[in-house]
Amino acid sequence: MILAPSILSADFSHLREDVAAVEQAGAQYLHIDVMDGHFVPNISFGAPIITSIRKQSNMVFDVHLMISDPLRYIDDFAKAGADIITFHIGCDSDVDKTLDAIRAHGIRAGLAVNPDVPVETMFPYKDKIDMALIMSVYAGFGGQSYIPEVNEKIRAARDFFGPDFDVEVDGGIKPDNKHIPLSFGANVLVAGSAVFGAPDITAAAKAFLAE
Ligand code: DX5
Ligand code: ZN
Repeated sequence: MILAPSILSADFSHLREDVAAVEQAGAQYLHIDVMDGHFVPNISFGAPIITSIRKQSNMVFDVHLMISDPLRYIDDFAKAGADIITFHIGCDSDVDKTLDAIRAHGIRAGLAVNPDVPVETMFPYKDKIDMALIMSVYAGFGGQSYIPEVNEKIRAARDFFGPDFDVEVDGGIKPDNKHIPLSFGANVLVAGSAVFGAPDITAAAKAFLAE
């Protein structure tokens, strides 16, 4: 499995040290939650934060855009150092144009579905995406509880996209329930509060990566 700790739950006053801790623990992706206060109620941060941490980390930067008009900002996030840019089915941007804009930068593209959005809405874009992000909470806040009704969506995504494809699950995942999304076919697990909210970040990341 690939662990993608979400910096949404990090203490930004020591972000460099905390990102280094999860990288050293073996986490491969760094999940970066961008919120605009419009597509979701919260505002998190934008491209300048990514530019700053890009200088200090070799992890795969997995940028999750919870914003209404992702197309308008793809260039900014690509230039800031994103390796993967994911946006939501149901945003205001044209999905094809946005995927094309991401791939034009030579980086990976992903689509995300909230719990109430059918997984099949991603299927027509199979040839243009590298990742399917199944939200296991409603996008917008860290620290929510895993919604088990999404399990069958994870299975459907894995069945449709095949074995060599990132199926990422995001929200409410802890070391003691990680086996659930994994058993339904996820290979990338996002964890915010369970990693960056833990007293020992390195130990928390290692607990996820242990068998
Ligand atoms: C929610 C974000 C998540 C969040 C996960 O809108 O997309 O990535 O940071 O946080 P936890 O792991 O605390 O549910
Ligand atoms: Zn996320």
